[in-house]
Amino acid sequence: AAIEKGGYDHFMLKEIFEQPSTVFDCLRGRVDAANGTITMAGVEANIDILKNAPRILIIACGTSWHAGLLAEYIFEELCRTPVEVEYASEFRYRNPIVNKGDVIIAVSQSGETADTLVAIEKAKEQGALIFGIVNVVGSSIARVSQAGAYTHAGPEIGVASTKAFTAQLAVLTIIALKLGYEKGTLDNKRFLHLMNELQDIPEKIPAALNQAEHVKQLAYKYKDARDFLYLGRGYNFPIALEGALKLKEISYIHAEGYPAAEMKHGPIALVDENLPVVFIATKDSYHEKIISNIQEIKARKGKVIAVITEGDDVIAKMADDVIEVPAADELVAPMLSVIPMQLLAYYIGVAKGLDVDKPRNLAKSVTVE
Ligand code: G6P
Repeated sequence: AAIEKGGYDHFMLKEIFEQPSTVFDCLRGRVDAANGTITMAGVEANIDILKNAPRILIIACGTSWHAGLLAEYIFEELCRTPVEVEYASEFRYRNPIVNKGDVIIAVSQSGETADTLVAIEKAKEQGALIFGIVNVVGSSIARVSQAGAYTHAGPEIGVASTKAFTAQLAVLTIIALKLGYEKGTLDNKRFLHLMNELQDIPEKIPAALNQAEHVKQLAYKYKDARDFLYLGRGYNFPIALEGALKLKEISYIHAEGYPAAEMKHGPIALVDENLPVVFIATKDSYHEKIISNIQEIKARKGKVIAVITEGDDVIAKMADDVIEVPAADELVAPMLSVIPMQLLAYYIGVAKGLDVDKPRNLAKSVTVE
């Protein structure tokens, strides 16, 4: 088993550290920034349907749903197509509106999640095109899909999803870039810029991983907290949700993810000197806004742990602790800012002596409804 784990203590840690190569593998043969081209057969074969789709519905569960939520922001920005993100378990049991011409994107690591599978079967009957973004080749969701793209992250053993998530983000971003370009909603200059930014991500992930020892120290500092709050805005809001989910799954600490500006409508009541608040606050168009949110927490004596862009002295001075990640365009930065979220959950779980690869009550793939 030690050999299978490649010298790491747990599969989860191994999989977190594999991300430079899994994201690279996911981009390989698809994104060619030097020549300004994107190759993705599943998109090309259905380009007219995708271009004309009145709506894109993204259906998923768990971590895959978080990738879908981020994709909503990316698709609406680059493709100007209205997107809705649905929990498969909610979508399938109501009388969902699906019109011919709508595109359904199903996101699933295992390709076997029962709720997602039934939801897309139902939407297929209603005339939508099903585009699957799946990790496991030949899985049920891959087979039901009429088009798709594999994430190529390799087998994920740890129950808490890590490398599959960053691969899902990479694939969804590639599709949005291609579609935005084809639709003409994304100009050539930005298309090229974002392709380069995306292609640089595998080279930037190691710098985020280099924070592991520092994150481990923070884990020991904060491991006895009863609750955690995770806050982010814009593209980093789904990362706040994902950070909170990872912590719940692995450390059994109650955690809540929230849009940073929405916290004043509730969660702010929880803030006191015992509450660690994780801000995903990399430099983006919301930066000034999130700085004032950090001040709001500090004014109430909350403990602030901020994920920041390297060299951001402004937040470094305000926060109790910071974790740095390399600078990147805000649209691709979540593939970096999620790394400290994964590491923090992992090390807190380890510090609490828990079985991080097999957390209680959870399953790697939920094939029951
Ligand atoms: C389970 C797993 C999660 C995963 C979710 C969706 O809850 O523990 O890690 O995100 O299912 O799984 P899928 O395979 O469809 O992505």
